[in-house]
Amino acid sequence: MSEVLSATGARLRDSVPLAALTTLRVGGPATVADCVTTDSLVATVRALDAAGIPVLLLAGGSNLLIGDDGFGGVVVRVATTAVEFGDDRVLAEAGADWDAVVAATVAAGFGGLECLSGIPGSAGATPVQNVGAYGVEVEQTIRRVRLLDRATGDVRWAEPGELGFGYRTSVLKHSSAAVVLAVEFALRPDGTSAPLRYGELARMLDAADGGTRPAAQVRAAVLRLRAGKGMVLDPADHDTWSAGSFFTNPVVPRDQERRILDAIAAHVGDVTVPTYPAPDGVKFSAGWLIERAGFAKGFPGPDAPARLSTKHTLALTNRGTATAADLVALARIVRDGVADRFGVRLEPEPVTIGVTL
Ligand code: EPU
Repeated sequence: MSEVLSATGARLRDSVPLAALTTLRVGGPATVADCVTTDSLVATVRALDAAGIPVLLLAGGSNLLIGDDGFGGVVVRVATTAVEFGDDRVLAEAGADWDAVVAATVAAGFGGLECLSGIPGSAGATPVQNVGAYGVEVEQTIRRVRLLDRATGDVRWAEPGELGFGYRTSVLKHSSAAVVLAVEFALRPDGTSAPLRYGELARMLDAADGGTRPAAQVRAAVLRLRAGKGMVLDPADHDTWSAGSFFTNPVVPRDQERRILDAIAAHVGDVTVPTYPAPDGVKFSAGWLIERAGFAKGFPGPDAPARLSTKHTLALTNRGTATAADLVALARIVRDGVADRFGVRLEPEPVTIGVTL
């Protein structure tokens, strides 16, 4: 391996436990190539591709469930960090810590990214699954994305229109065709927040729907909300040893809504079911469905190595000694329980490597 990567500038490490590199803190061993510059990242992926060696790209490790056997190829760790400001934009290298980027924009007097505060992971991961929170999806702020095309080896800028953004998805997700090298985000030079579209957040800030507030105020409120749900990393709090939301909120075709509402009523009686209009149907709340299907916060109980977060049913968490197998078993129980009771199939949000649900 060292011959293949000798001229790439990457640092090679053997038998690295991947658990140490993921927020779920599970995953067996692999060879890791650390790339601290974009040039070395490009050269490393090109060299591995030319040699036919399987590549797993890993940056913040916050949206990955890696199996206990690890990974047989090379884990390319995106460890670039540069962040550069323009008059109304910020350019972040892919490995830059996402929340550090958001914090830097707010501190520099810019608005636009504050609703996306406190999200674990890297800047380069945000377009891949069109990260979203508190009424903003990152596609609304992306100007362009620097990509390495792995079929040709070329590096180029892609426009947002090419990226096929949808709810928690883009053409970059579940595809190995391109590597994100850097992302440029549009900012609001007047320091106001993006329009507030999330009821819970707007109420906290005493703002009308669609109103704005200074970005720093919104960032502080979002961090409070997220922390209350266990969605801000804290090594001392096992509720945050997660991949964020483990399932996406299911979007079902409109003609299935009635059937699902009837199934819910049959199980839990006459309740108001939270649903949201979506472009291609109706979005249900996965956290709500999980809880009403009988999986309370903290399920299955304090002694289990893998449990639902005690603060939010949508986060599967490692209590310290969980294996990937423990998490997969829990995910299946929850998914199958919701499907049996309500006839809705939940799909996992994290990328799975070496495990299938
Ligand atoms: N709910 C429960 N029990 C729970 C948690 C939630 O019943 O334990 C119900 C409540 O009715 C609540 C509703 O679910 O009103 C929605 O919960 P929440 O506001 O926390 O949002 P979410 O839909 O569960 C989504 C994103 C989060 C994002 C928040 C805030 C997905 C899959 N998740 O969660 O994103 O932070 O909205 O915008 O879309 C992530 O993707 O990893 C993530 C954390």
